Amino acid sequence: MATYHKLIIGNCMSMKEIPDNKVHLMVTSPPYFNAPFDYKGLFKSYEQYLGVLRKFAQETYRVLQEGRIAVLNIDDMLINGEKFPITADATKIFLEVGFRYRDRIIWKKPDGYLRISKLIITKL
Ligand SMILES: C[S@@+](CC[C@H](N)C(=O)[O-])C[C@H]1O[C@@H](n2cnc3c(N)ncnc32)[C@H](O)[C@@H]1O
Repeated sequence: MATYHKLIIGNCMSMKEIPDNKVHLMVTSPPYFNAPFDYKGLFKSYEQYLGVLRKFAQETYRVLQEGRIAVLNIDDMLINGEKFPITADATKIFLEVGFRYRDRIIWKKPDGYLRISKLIITKL
């Protein structure tokens, strides 16, 4: 059976290119709130970050078909000794826009993973 693929370079807060109830599965790794190295200072505040997640959650709810699944690859973030509860807040936001919570899967990266990726970044 032939398949059709379309790449959209867009904004997850306004997925106007996608009609309601069209998507079968949503999997994403959203930016970690102001993560050191990758996203330092990207968001003005944690509230702004949560606002982005809320708009994205609403849009995801709109485009997903009933009964379909949204998967978030996220973790809490430690910045200057303060831990931000991204996992709990994102779960709550998705519940508030209408989703049901199904499960949490813990991804344990290999020991030394961060050190290795930092080394690769340094070499490049
Ligand atoms: C943690 S990275 C995930 C990278 C992805 N897994 C990959 O392999 O390329 C988060 C990604 O979200 C993108 N992003 C940030 N804000 C976005 C937005 N409003 N709409 C869509 N993508 C966004 C960033 O550019 C970044 O590529």
